[in-house]
Amino acid sequence: MESYNIAILSGDGIGKEIMQEAVKILDLFSSDVRLEYNEYLIGGAGIDATNNPLPDETLRACKASNAVLLGAIGGEKWNNLERHLRPEKGLLNLRKELGVYANIRPIKVYNATLESSPIKKEIIQDVDFVIVRELISGIYFGEPRAKEMDRAYNTMFYTRDEIYRVTKYAFELAQKRNKKLCCVDKANVLETSQLWREVVDSVAKQYSDVAVEFLYVDNASMQLILNPKQFDVMLCENLFGDILSDEASVIGGSIGLLASASIGDSVALFEPIHGSAPDIAGKNIANPIAMILSTSMMFSHLGEVEIAKKIELAVNKVLECGYRTRDLATNKDEAISCSQMGDLIVKFIKEL
Ligand SMILES: NC(=O)c1ccc[n+]([C@@H]2O[C@H](COP(=O)([O-])OP(=O)(O)OC[C@H]3O[C@@H](n4cnc5c(N)ncnc54)[C@H](O)[C@@H]3O)[C@@H](O)[C@H]2O)c1
Repeated sequence: MESYNIAILSGDGIGKEIMQEAVKILDLFSSDVRLEYNEYLIGGAGIDATNNPLPDETLRACKASNAVLLGAIGGEKWNNLERHLRPEKGLLNLRKELGVYANIRPIKVYNATLESSPIKKEIIQDVDFVIVRELISGIYFGEPRAKEMDRAYNTMFYTRDEIYRVTKYAFELAQKRNKKLCCVDKANVLETSQLWREVVDSVAKQYSDVAVEFLYVDNASMQLILNPKQFDVMLCENLFGDILSDEASVIGGSIGLLASASIGDSVALFEPIHGSAPDIAGKNIANPIAMILSTSMMFSHLGEVEIAKKIELAVNKVLECGYRTRDLATNKDEAISCSQMGDLIVKFIKEL
């Protein structure tokens, strides 16, 4: 029997609630594969306990694991701390330390939730594309950066190698899908984007079966809503990918549905694309599906494809049966709770 060591980082806000539901799934499959999972602190929880948003013990455990499952970090309580002490810094450092340069965000519309999206049904039906976001460079990491009394600045920085590795990943993914790659940039204004275009053009020569196009990010943000079906693999630098994937969550009806995998050369990290949602934290009303689908992506990455498929099928079934958490429910009085959604997904997996 295969054996996996999973580091669990619930984090803050709804992170704790949605992770409880993911753990129910891990518990369920503990008889099919040998799973060892332990919880570690990150973000605000790490700051409160150790004054460090990425405690040493957490980083050590993540590096020694087969995969990391993360809920979400952040919240009002820690917003006034210095940058290096904020919860977000813990997550950025973890991604950097694990070297997870490619963040994979599938955007798939479920037939059952078509009516939950504010966008017309005929525009979003059958949408199925993937955003590949560069995750450990760009403006979130670039130096110099500073906020001074009367001025502030950040640096969008990329090396050719950083662009190359994520571009190669995106082309390989496109080859396994519908062989279309759209690189999103701002090459009419930004030198970093001009370098991205050079690298993408040169990598494209090795993948002649993949059709490549470039879109300026302002146009891409419009096309995402006007005609999202045109996309197959969308390749973005860090900041653009962060923003566009939140926008893309509207297509499927809720950000609470969107999972992600962050892949590098060793340990991979799996987390929903959303944050800690302080506005709904502690109420047991968050949608745990993004967290549960992130768990499915983890199993798939570990080679446990059957387990991953079962989780996906159960999520599909729960939505087809009409169960909705508040974010998706058209009638809020009929919404089920976060823990009820987790329990139902477990029930449907058992029935498969
Ligand atoms: N990866 C991460 O951990 C991550 C990502 C983004 C933001 N953050 C942090 O999260 C905090 C809140 O940020 P924000 O409000 O801009 O973004 P957010 O993603 O937390 O919330 C945006 C909106 O989506 C809703 N939402 C998010 N996840 C949901 C779910 N699973 N079910 C139902 N509704 C959901 C929230 O209620 C809110 O209305 C901040 O501290 C921010 O820095 C963390």
